[in-house]
Amino acid sequence: MVAVVIEYAASRHAQSIAELEAHAFTINAEQLEEVKRSRARDPGVRLVAVAEQGVAGFVVGSWFVCAEASNPSLVRRRLWINAVAVGTPFRRNGIGRRLMNALFERAEARGAHGYALMVQVENLAAIELYKSLGFKRSQLAQSAYGKGLHGLIMKRRVKQLDGPG
Ligand SMILES: CC(C)(COP(=O)(O)OP(=O)(O)OC[C@H]1O[C@@H](n2cnc3c(N)ncnc32)[C@H](O)[C@@H]1OP(=O)(O)O)[C@@H](O)C(=O)NCCC(=O)NCCS
Repeated sequence: MVAVVIEYAASRHAQSIAELEAHAFTINAEQLEEVKRSRARDPGVRLVAVAEQGVAGFVVGSWFVCAEASNPSLVRRRLWINAVAVGTPFRRNGIGRRLMNALFERAEARGAHGYALMVQVENLAAIELYKSLGFKRSQLAQSAYGKGLHGLIMKRRVKQLDGPG
């Protein structure tokens, strides 16, 4: 078991997050700059897992609002999970799960009613992680990651709101 402390991301973590992101998602420099710009516009909720060796993982969520399917006049605040990544040497130590649970705790303290995300359909590690945290498959986004690379949208309601709607 690797000891990590989960904390809000600060500017001192930016370089480590960018390196993890580039490694985990094979995005190019231009895409990385766009990711940084959009995160600067919406800080959302950003957490890092810090090990003795440095940043072991991170999770980033952005706020969005949408109406309840069962009651369109009821507008809910939800968190879109943009990315979660754990450095290769640190994987399978429960860090991804701890980051996600810490994100839920902090987001719910700030009024989150639910979560959504998109994951590439072949990414079984991430899909298993999300399923284990109570995310349900919602819909398929055809070629969302490029031609023939489909995305799976998954959703999770906060516990006390579980039920129809
Ligand atoms: C997905 C990812 C964040 C998981 O992080 P992690 O710290 O290794 O995950 P955890 O150790 O907390 O695992 C929690 C659960 O997820 C599932 N899981 C994680 N990795 C898995 C794998 N390789 N195969 C199958 N299930 C896996 C398991 O259910 C696991 O529970 P268990 O260990 O009790 O069986 C990590 O693999 C990663 O960074 N991948 C690259 C980036 C990415 O694809 N992010 C998601 C898309 S945004």
